[in-house]
Amino acid sequence: MAPGSKVFFRLTKPVIFLLGLAPFIYLLLNAFGLAGPGLGANPVEELQHETGRWGLRFLLMTLCITPLRRWTGWTWLIRYRRMLGLFAFFYTLVHFLNYAVLDQGLDGVAIYEDVIKRPYITLGMTGLVLLIPLAITSTRGMMRRLGKRWKKLHSLVYLIAILGTWHFFWQEKLDTLDATVYAVILALLLVTRIHHKRRQTVRIQNKSSN
Ligand code: HEM
Repeated sequence: MAPGSKVFFRLTKPVIFLLGLAPFIYLLLNAFGLAGPGLGANPVEELQHETGRWGLRFLLMTLCITPLRRWTGWTWLIRYRRMLGLFAFFYTLVHFLNYAVLDQGLDGVAIYEDVIKRPYITLGMTGLVLLIPLAITSTRGMMRRLGKRWKKLHSLVYLIAILGTWHFFWQEKLDTLDATVYAVILALLLVTRIHHKRRQTVRIQNKSSN
């Protein structure tokens, strides 16, 4: 079974799907006291933190696919990118729903005021809103239909990751160590992308001058 073959993909895709869903299931089991140590004294806050972190982790994993593919030559890695991106959307949506339903009791006015008045909520909300068109257009059909515009639209994922990391940073009042780790990973991914873009431009310029 060669990596990248149809059989390989058919076997690994469900495994990755279950691994992606595992943190959510673990959180649910914890919430209902069926596994783990439970969610502590403030379960809603714990859910807020865990879902936010998983959303950001999946966003960063999605961004890792392209540089990894370039460095290793494993072109088949691209086939897992969509699933990772959709998990980023899923966890961020659960993160928002936890906030809107369990924290704010679906009080539209309170949510609106929070979004307007608290800058870290404004950043998070912008990230979530931008993720929606990416999730909707993540199918192969949409990719084909949008052509070159698809790539442009999906490069928004970098901006979303910046907003998400910034949002993380801003709400951490004292201990910013964890947020710093995520920011450093994101910075490395951005530098890699800029470096690749520059090399591409130089190559094109050289070709046209030859
Ligand atoms: C791309 C979108 C988003 C990402 C990646 C994200 C990620 C995160 C992360 C990593 C944390 C910190 C977790 C921790 O401290 O352990 C967090 C906290 C939080 N997020 Fe988000 N978030 C996003 C969108 C949103 C949205 C749309 C809302 C609500 C409108 C929201 C509300 C909150 C709240 C209330 C907290 C906890 C703040 C506190 O405990 O003081 N987030 N988020």
